[in-house]
Amino acid sequence: TPNSDNTTNNSNNLTPQQQQAMLLAQRKRKVKDFQFGKPLGEGSYSSVVEATEIATQRTYAAKILYKRHILKEKKTKYVKIERDVLHALNHPFIVKLYYAFQDQDSLFLILDLAANGELLTWIRKLGSFPLHCARFYLAEIVVAVEYMHSKNIIHRDLKPENILLGEDMHILVTDFGTAFQCSSSSISSSSEDGNKSSSLTQHQQQQQPLPNLSSSTTLTNHPSNKPINNTSGDDGRGRGGRSTRKSSSSDDSNQNRANSFVGTAEYVSPELLKDKAVTKASDVWAIGCIAYQLIAGRPPFKAPNEYLTFQKILKLDYSFPPGFNPQLRDLVEQILVLDPKRRIGLDKVKEHPFFAGINFNSLTQTAPPRLI
Ligand code: ADE
Repeated sequence: TPNSDNTTNNSNNLTPQQQQAMLLAQRKRKVKDFQFGKPLGEGSYSSVVEATEIATQRTYAAKILYKRHILKEKKTKYVKIERDVLHALNHPFIVKLYYAFQDQDSLFLILDLAANGELLTWIRKLGSFPLHCARFYLAEIVVAVEYMHSKNIIHRDLKPENILLGEDMHILVTDFGTAFQCSSSSISSSSEDGNKSSSLTQHQQQQQPLPNLSSSTTLTNHPSNKPINNTSGDDGRGRGGRSTRKSSSSDDSNQNRANSFVGTAEYVSPELLKDKAVTKASDVWAIGCIAYQLIAGRPPFKAPNEYLTFQKILKLDYSFPPGFNPQLRDLVEQILVLDPKRRIGLDKVKEHPFFAGINFNSLTQTAPPRLI
């Protein structure tokens, strides 16, 4: 029990067990402290596996990045971004980074384990979400994204694969490897500029040509622009699920246009395709695509290959399946607006009639509706 002196965090006040726990908490973790288990996912230069800390028997997800691959592909910057961004964010709906360490071959990020997997898996399993479930999960996504925007972090690759579900079935947004730290003066969607914060290194990027249109996964930066046929499934992810990332770095004074292509074809905003503009509004666009997908079972813009997907996005060529809830349709129509300046902001999204009855402030304490 605490005594009068315990405000100083003096280890003299602690029991031997508490002192040992403190030492353990402070110690730098090493690969040997963990037992690695079953695979949870594969990324373009990483894999995610279950990991148990031997001393505590706590389970985590370990994202393992292969140094040789990262160096070869010049992706070191992305690893640093992911680590720094995760470190800067602290929210119940965002995956937490507990430890980061390395051995000779690999880098290890020890993260929250999302025991219930990807939102995409649930969409596939259910076909589509019951409306009240879609409402609840969209509300959680809005809260998570509003939080990261308040820290001036733009995710840039929001999609149902990157929205995980924890043991308690609340969301855990993951994969900040392509996140972007913007200044508060960024070209952002309507009124949702957050306060200035965080001292992450700006990751500035070279202007790049439109990406090569490879697989339907997260877009990777390739030299050519030739569309490659992709006859993958119809749910927003083919077989792989990779993101389009760019490479190389150089200074560019126009920060929010300095970015080359990042994102996943189906969720990429028109302004990113046209102007390479990185804005908070691009994350809102992705939320609109996810909203549509939760009910329709597939993303709004989907074509046999990425080139054709981009064409559809740029022409706002999509339609609602019969029976689509009219309130959600109205909301999606206000989000999927080509001009990012005219796109609804997250503050207004929260006030939309679709969310009537949702208390955005108490979602963490609200039991998620059962997904059936
Ligand atoms: N797949 C990728 N990241 C994961 C995580 N943190 N938990 C569970 N599965 C994952």
